[in-house]
Amino acid sequence: MRITVVGTGYVGLVTGCCFADLGNVVTCVDVNRKKIQELRKGVIPIYEPGLEEIVKRNRNKRLFFTTDLAKAVHSSDFIFIAVNTPPGKNGEVDITHVQEAAKGIARNLNGYKIIINKSTVPIGMGDIVTQIIQKNSSKKFSFDVVSNPEFLREGSAVTDLFKPERIVIGATSRSAAHKVAEIYKPLYRPIVITDLKSAEMIKYASNAFLATKISFINEIANLCDQVGADITQVVKGMSYDSRIGGQFLNAGLGFGGSCFPKDVAGLVQIGRDHQFEFRLLPQVLEINRDQRKQFLKKVHRALGSLKGKTVAVWGLSFKPNTDDMREAPSVTIIPELTAKGVKVKVYDPVAMPQAKLFLKNVKYCKTAYEAAQGADAVLVLTEWNEFIQIDFQKLKKMVRKAVVVDGRNIYDPQQMAEKGFSYYGMGRGKPFIF
Ligand code: UDX
Ligand code: UDX
Repeated sequence: MRITVVGTGYVGLVTGCCFADLGNVVTCVDVNRKKIQELRKGVIPIYEPGLEEIVKRNRNKRLFFTTDLAKAVHSSDFIFIAVNTPPGKNGEVDITHVQEAAKGIARNLNGYKIIINKSTVPIGMGDIVTQIIQKNSSKKFSFDVVSNPEFLREGSAVTDLFKPERIVIGATSRSAAHKVAEIYKPLYRPIVITDLKSAEMIKYASNAFLATKISFINEIANLCDQVGADITQVVKGMSYDSRIGGQFLNAGLGFGGSCFPKDVAGLVQIGRDHQFEFRLLPQVLEINRDQRKQFLKKVHRALGSLKGKTVAVWGLSFKPNTDDMREAPSVTIIPELTAKGVKVKVYDPVAMPQAKLFLKNVKYCKTAYEAAQGADAVLVLTEWNEFIQIDFQKLKKMVRKAVVVDGRNIYDPQQMAEKGFSYYGMGRGKPFIF
């Protein structure tokens, strides 16, 4: 197939590269000239495991990068819109980039095309894109608009694209839906073909449900702290019920990233735009915000007074295996500490270049141990595997105080006690304090 993907961000780039790896001819378009120049040299602007090899394997054979939308549209039959849909000031979904992309495509139609919304767009956006194209294109060319939402998780986006649990395709024209389904046929995965609005709703409802699971288990964890139960044991006991399952029940600092916070707030706003007031989802967001405060209370308790203290922060990205700092807990937690006179030394295996763009007056360290040197407490904000493998005997000699505040429950309280560390988890029962 001849495919264009507009927007080479976390979603567009992975989508385009993987489509090329499936044998399609793919042109990735972006307005960001610098990004396109880097991609042409095989330099990947984001950290995504497995992506670099795919670009190297397909670049200049069937994978091309350009800022020239017209040329890309002229030479493609399928045009995916994967530009970002950031949150507006009161949580509404900013669709201006999608509208711009649709206008640009409309002005360059040179035959029948299928335009596919890959970006997460409000329910009804498929009809809006259809109207934009009708208004901005010369009447003689026909086209169809399809919704094909992405379910990629950062850090595993390549695997998620090649091994999706389902592909969702929404369209008014069944034949257009089936043509898009052809692209995914080589994956041999379940394909749900439905109407535009249902496909758009599937995306929002899926993300909102996952976010709800996280806020639910975080509330249970907060009660565990009060009663002295261990949330990891509670989840273990819950998970054998197939109706509950064990995934997405990791209590901790809560969700961040460019999707959950934005998509849950976006869905609330979409409700309001259609005279429907969600009651559950605003609570999901509030509980999530409060998790950062819960954690800071623990840090306070662990340190006693904050002034003049030093802490090591392990992990800055919103989750492991990504360099994405969008809505990461570190972005709100660290300024709270530095504002109270705490000296903060940070380490993240991958995200520090991104973090340096906006996390100021912290000391960036080359290793987790360097950050821990002289620290009154070690704070775990992101569950990178390397923190799980830490040599605690070595660590004990480096810290000023053997205290760990574990925002992602990566350690076992019993083992920490045996190693002589005071341990504060999120819902791990009464803290062990030496
Ligand atoms: C994606 C999805 O598009 C979004 O709907 C989902 O909710 C989050 O993930 P993402 O890929 O993370 O967004 O966006 P980003 O990483 O910001 O990349 C967007 C890219 O589109 C940027 O490279 C930007 O330069 C480009 N862009 C934006 C265009 O090419 N044209 C535009 O008009 C606007
Ligand atoms: C999510 C959805 O999983 C994906 O399907 C959608 O396309 C985009 O949004 P992503 O945001 O990349 O993907 O990461 P994910 O692994 O889902 O984690 C989201 C957030 O929830 C992270 O901040 C993570 O730390 C948090 N999380 C996840 C928990 O706090 N507990 C969990 O059990 C799982």
